Amino acid sequence: MINRRNFLALSSAGVAVGALAACGNDSGGGSDGGGGGGDKEVEVFTWWAQGSEKAGLDALVEVFKQQHADFTFVNGAVAGGAGSAAKDMLQSRLQAGDPPDTFQAHAGAELTDYIDAAQIQDVSALYDEYGLTDAFPKDLVDRLTVDGMIYSIPSNIHRSNMVWGSTEALTKAGIDPATPPADLDAFIANLDKAKAAGVTALSVATTWTQINLLEAVLMASLGASAYNGLFDGSTAWDSAEVTTALQQFEKMMSYTNTDRDGLDWPDATQQLIDNTAAYNVMGDWAVAAFQEAKLTENEQYVYFPLPGRDKIFGFLADSFTLPEGAPHEDGAKAWLNTISSTEGQLAFNLAKGSIPARTDTDNSQFGAYQQTALTSFKEDMICPSIAHGAAVPIAWLNDISDATSQFTAGASDLAAYQKALVDAAGKHSA
Ligand code: GAL
Repeated sequence: MINRRNFLALSSAGVAVGALAACGNDSGGGSDGGGGGGDKEVEVFTWWAQGSEKAGLDALVEVFKQQHADFTFVNGAVAGGAGSAAKDMLQSRLQAGDPPDTFQAHAGAELTDYIDAAQIQDVSALYDEYGLTDAFPKDLVDRLTVDGMIYSIPSNIHRSNMVWGSTEALTKAGIDPATPPADLDAFIANLDKAKAAGVTALSVATTWTQINLLEAVLMASLGASAYNGLFDGSTAWDSAEVTTALQQFEKMMSYTNTDRDGLDWPDATQQLIDNTAAYNVMGDWAVAAFQEAKLTENEQYVYFPLPGRDKIFGFLADSFTLPEGAPHEDGAKAWLNTISSTEGQLAFNLAKGSIPARTDTDNSQFGAYQQTALTSFKEDMICPSIAHGAAVPIAWLNDISDATSQFTAGASDLAAYQKALVDAAGKHSA
């Protein structure tokens, strides 16, 4: 059985370092070369540039201003969901010796890329200084730790395997919004009904959102144990059960909007807000978008985890780093202090749709959706996200992205797709 206690063991297995693509960079932020001294500012690099994600960052910045009034926050955000543009830009800056003071990364395999390239510092002393050692779940801290050193501080925990539904579109299709489908077949039957009713059955956007869908299907179809085995070699990517899951993914993709590749996640979620789509499979940053649009839960939108073999929490956590050579180390430490504080975690997560990574916060202010996430994180099986850096390092994810975009664009068939996934696992797993 894979549960919260032992899922970590999976995270450090199957990790390889790869060269990362680099591209241009126009992100702001002061490099004064001061090596930790200099101006009292901090450039914070994220991809929370717009909409509800920016609202989450703004909430955190408010707390930062109260806690560290002597520092100026410099917003280094680069737009593009899941860091689709930010990660390349970040890599370019790191390689050029121009790091931001702190940057957003994901707990798990993604962090290993930066650690192996010696781009981020051990921050375990800050865990002692800020009293964080017992504030986070041990298995989460293990995901941030390599060889006894802790390389980042988590701000939140997101759930990736959620289905969101438009009450109006579902009702129009003769689907009871209050009754979630029991399994993947029932979900696909509902997609068929929605299509027949003339709405987009399943809204999706650019490649990373398709991988978000793929991982949810793999979790539901394989179950937690076999899914987690994909990353430690105990489940073969060329197995018949993976073929079945890919067939289910292919089927679901056939119900999606054809303009998907030009869209990002807020556009796909917007289709539910506009009631032009019935369902969207997306991480729970989507709930922040519904809240920002002032929708009322149940009356206007519903949610459930993609149904499958087990009760699963598709796991990812944003965490912040202290880069080697950060020009304003003091500012970075102040930021890390705020994002890990009780006040910071509450303000941020209330706005972001995620749950606090700290286990000692008073969570009574969280709404109904986040209460379900809090419970699921405690009780359900944990499966690390592929699309969001928890399960595989960036180079492996890049190969999965290439294979997936070729497949969903119709440039490869299912057998070629599966072979490309097998090859990627062979290339990148330990
Ligand atoms: C994830 C990130 C979330 C959210 C999402 C969509 O990778 O962890 O915080 O920002 O991308 O952009």
